[in-house]
This record gives sequence, C-alpha cells and structure tokens, in this order.
Amino acid sequence: MAETKVDCSPKRARFFCTAGRGLERFVTEEVTRKASAVDVEAMSGKVFFTAEPDMYRLRQIKSGERLFLLLRKEPPLSVPKGKGNALSMLRETMVGESKVWISALDLWQNLQETVQHMNDVQNDQIKASKRKLENDSALYTSKLCKKEHGAGEVCILDEHTSDKFLTQSENQCFFNDEQTNNIPPKTLFSAKSMFTFRVSCRCTGAIAKLFTAQELGRVIGKALVRQFGWKPDLRKPILEVFVHINDLYSVVGFPIMRQPLANRAYIQSTGLRSTTAWAMVTLAEISAKTIVLDPMCGVGTILLEAAKEWPHVHFLGMDINASQLKNAVDNVKAAGVEGSVEFLKGSVLDLPILSESIDVVISDIPFGKKFASSKNMKELLPEILCEMERVVRIGGIIVLLLSQSLHHHLKAHFQFKDVKNGSTARTENDLLQKDKNEMASNKKDIVMKTDYFESLVPIEAHPVSLGVTEAIIFKCKKLSNP
Ligand SMILES: C[S@@+](CC[C@H](N)C(=O)[O-])C[C@H]1O[C@@H](n2cnc3c(N)ncnc32)[C@H](O)[C@@H]1O
Repeated sequence: MAETKVDCSPKRARFFCTAGRGLERFVTEEVTRKASAVDVEAMSGKVFFTAEPDMYRLRQIKSGERLFLLLRKEPPLSVPKGKGNALSMLRETMVGESKVWISALDLWQNLQETVQHMNDVQNDQIKASKRKLENDSALYTSKLCKKEHGAGEVCILDEHTSDKFLTQSENQCFFNDEQTNNIPPKTLFSAKSMFTFRVSCRCTGAIAKLFTAQELGRVIGKALVRQFGWKPDLRKPILEVFVHINDLYSVVGFPIMRQPLANRAYIQSTGLRSTTAWAMVTLAEISAKTIVLDPMCGVGTILLEAAKEWPHVHFLGMDINASQLKNAVDNVKAAGVEGSVEFLKGSVLDLPILSESIDVVISDIPFGKKFASSKNMKELLPEILCEMERVVRIGGIIVLLLSQSLHHHLKAHFQFKDVKNGSTARTENDLLQKDKNEMASNKKDIVMKTDYFESLVPIEAHPVSLGVTEAIIFKCKKLSNP
C-alpha cells in the first residue's frame, strides 16, 4: 500500500535507513532495539520504520549507511505509454500535495537543530582527544602474553584489495536546470521560499530503461520550483531531496544528516567498512568481562566498534605490521577507548597468547591472492583457524570475515564438529552435507577433507557486500577441546 503521508506528530515519524547489501537484518535489529521502532520493513538495501524523532537514539544506529525522513513511499509504478504521460505521472506521484512536504519539512528542521547541537558537542570532544593524542603515542603491552614476541619469522599476508574499503556508490545525480530560475516562485510555502535544494535521484530496474536519473531528477526539481519557489543549488543546498525509483518501491526522503551514519567521527585512519565491522561485533556475543581478540586488527576498526559499545570489556589487538598498529593506537585514543584496548605486535600463525584465555576471536581475514610466503591464503587458513581454536576457551566464539571463495573452501575442506543441538548449527552443517553430496556426485570435484576442527561448530554465515566484493561473515563456536 502507498505511504503518501509523513506522520509529523511530535510522537512518531516514518524514517528509512539505507544499508549495505546483506546488512538489512542488522539495521532492522538495531532500529528495533535502539529506537524502539515499529512497523519495520526491510526491502533491498533499505529499512523503513516508525520511531520517535529522537536524534539521540537514532544516531546510535551503527549498521546503517544514511538516515532519511520518509516523505513518500509508493508501490511499484506502472508507467503509462508515451514519454510525456509517463513523466507527468511520475511528477504527480513523487511530488503530489504540498501539505505533505510542508509538515515533513517542519519536522526535518527541528531534527536539524538537534543534529547541529550534537555536532557542536562532538567536535569539542574530538578536539580534546586530538590534544591528548599528541601527548602520548606509545604501544600497550598485554598481560595475556605467553612470551615476549617480536616480528620473528612470521608469514606476512597480503592486505585486502582496496575495494574492500570502498563505500557503495549511490550513483547520485542532481537536479540541474538553469532555466528553472526563470519560473516565478509561488508563495505556497512562503516561510521556506528561500530554501535552496537539489534532487539526488536514483533509478534502477525497469524505470531505468525508460528514463535516466537526470531526466527524472530534472522533472521533479522543476515541479518543486513551481510548487514552492525553492532555488536549485547543486553545491551547498540547504535541503537534499532524495528520490529512488526501482521495481519494488519509489521513495522520496530528506537525509537528516549531511554525513552518513556510517562515517564515524571517532575513526581517524579508516580500515574495514565500519558498518561491516559493527555487524561482525554484534554476532560475537560480547558481554561484561568478555576478553576479545582481533589477531589481524589492522587499524583496529572491529575493536573500536566493539569498544565504543562495550567500554568495560577487555580488547586485545594484534598485527604483524607496526605501522598498522601505530594507526590502531591513534584510533583508539582519538575514540577515547584506550583504557580498554591493548595492542601487541605478532603473527596470527603463532599467537603469543595462552591457550583458552580468550572468549571471542573476531577478525577480518585478508582476501589478497599473493602472499609474502610460498603458501596462499587457502593453505594458510587451516593454520590460522588452528591458532584461533587453541586460544579460544570452550564456549567461546570465533567470527571471521571471509571472501566467498575462502568460505566455500572452509565448508568444503574442513570437518567441523557435527553437533545437532541448534537450528542455526544444523543449517550450516546441512550446507556442509550438501557440499559433500555435490562433490560426491561430480567425481572431478571430489576433495579429501584434510583439516579437522572438531571442537568448532559452525553457527551462522551471512553474505555481505563490501562494495564490488562480496564476502561472508562466518561465526562458529568452540564446544570442546580439540
Ligand atoms: C584485512 S586487514 C585487517 C583490516 C582491519 N580489519 C582494519 O579495519 O584495519 C588484514 C591485516 O592482517 C595483517 N596481517 C597480515 N599478516 C599477518 C600475520 N601473519 N599475523 C598478523 N597479522 C597479519 C595485516 O598487516 C593487515 O593489517
């Protein structure tokens, strides 16, 4: 059913959050828990929900990309024949009545004031942490060390390919038509007639075969100029009108913050996409007194995301690369969580950590194909997992970010513990069995299972998009000693 009206009563409003592919379920869980959202609906890269317009709560959403106030949501459009008819129908549907825009803008302006106040406070905090950072940049050492550990004879794995760090492009295009400046402004919306705006339009699916996003953006932009007398401004508009038309829905919304939710003000050096790191962290069953290890921590994104949420948990980051560790130390200081995160230099292949001393291992395994070793990543994965299995206590959790091919390799070659004590575990074991059957039915592909992680039980696997690369968040649990 079409949603053509924003509920602008002070109590509730309709919002949506954009999400990376595969992260919709994490956004759904977060808006429900953190913003007490109702009528939550996840649809292909977006999560729609109704919540109190409370920016202090909404800004806590960590798995979403951008947050919007929803103005309109329509079911799939059936476009009439003839370009002129089609464009006028789209204009009518996407712009429609003025009162909907006016009430949404009132609420949007209230939210802007709160956001501005929050930004001022945050900027003061960042300045204070930067001053503190300049005073001290020494690495921490850990009490969990089993021995003094330098770089030693370690195998250096390649870094990710850079696409792992890319954000998803929104393929935006803006309303830009100088002629519209000549259209006399109406005074329908006189108090806001000085508004400058731009239309950011995205078209995908069937509609993209008929019109370009520029064409649609221009039509909607012209209609807004006529209706409200606003002035187009591509560079620094006061208001951005976001339009997305695809085969599932057509939406119009106003972004509430200029910066995406996914841009963390507290991260100085960026590594893994923060929303993906957040999703991994939420699967790790972290609670008070948990000890969390990221043995290939890079600049520490995963640990940072976790430490911001659980400031009283003990976090340990390791990396083979000293300059990555230096950035990680700076990051945790800038984020003000240096009291709970320690760092060590060392190799994941020989962790300087006591057996069964860690509750959660969580890591982003490099995807690159070439390594500074004669072995490739598929050969190294058993060694890496073996060390992780050793340091995790019984009942502990391992959460890994793997390329699709590494995940496939993991399922096809590893014999995990086969315990039928949970529906999610069964699901992953069923996948293992399916793989075995497929291989058995095709003699060419028969592979001997040579690596055994009998104490580990697969729990769940989530496909996620890292821009142009697809990956899997894989979770398993240690149920007994190997
Ligand atoms: C994919 S990056 C991790 C990115 C990290 N999640 C972040 O947000 O910055 C992989 C990291 O593994 C580290 N690494 C490579 N070989 C290693 C080894 N043998 N032991 C420990 N760390 C290693 C690299 O230095 C790199 O920082």
